Amino acid sequence: MSLKDKHLNYVEIGVLFGINSAIVWDLLRYAFESATITCIDPLEGYYDADALDTLVGLPINETVLRQNLAHAMCDMEQVTILKGLSEDPEIISKASKRSYNYLLIDGDHSYDGVRRDFENYAPMVSSGGIVAVDDYGADEWPEVTAYCDRVLMEHPGYEVLSKTHRTLILRKS
Ligand SMILES: C[S@@+](CC[C@H](N)C(=O)[O-])C[C@H]1O[C@@H](n2cnc3c(N)ncnc32)[C@H](O)[C@@H]1O
Repeated sequence: MSLKDKHLNYVEIGVLFGINSAIVWDLLRYAFESATITCIDPLEGYYDADALDTLVGLPINETVLRQNLAHAMCDMEQVTILKGLSEDPEIISKASKRSYNYLLIDGDHSYDGVRRDFENYAPMVSSGGIVAVDDYGADEWPEVTAYCDRVLMEHPGYEVLSKTHRTLILRKS
């Protein structure tokens, strides 16, 4: 993604309440002629079906996500919610109908989870696009860091732009 791009097509794996999606919309939307956001998440509780969020005590579901994004002034016609696990072939197939210039991986934080998301979704990112992996370097998620260090740091198809603030940011060649 570059500010020279005309369109922002953002996909986020693991959206929870949509806070980060809303921030991306708010910060970046008007730098582009148009923007779309694709949100992928089972939306059934944070790693535990129907559980309330531990911090705010609210349910995580599609209604709450839609309300939050609408409150944040996202144009809901430009928002696609794919409710399901990112590794589900149907979700991958639906997501692949579009090409993206910004991908955030923040779903399954296991080594294989990050690996799968990178292998399945990074091919949908256009040349010059951004791939960001959240929680890189976070003590709570050592497997995220392990996958990134082992595979992404030296990946010939990607340049490391930043690895601070718990996020690894890569640009696709
Ligand atoms: C750390 S939270 C995401 C926070 C969000 N990106 C933000 O910054 O506001 C992780 C989310 O990933 C979701 N998740 C976990 N495994 C997933 C998977 N395999 N596919 C899609 N989402 C997943 C969880 O349901 C949870 O909502």
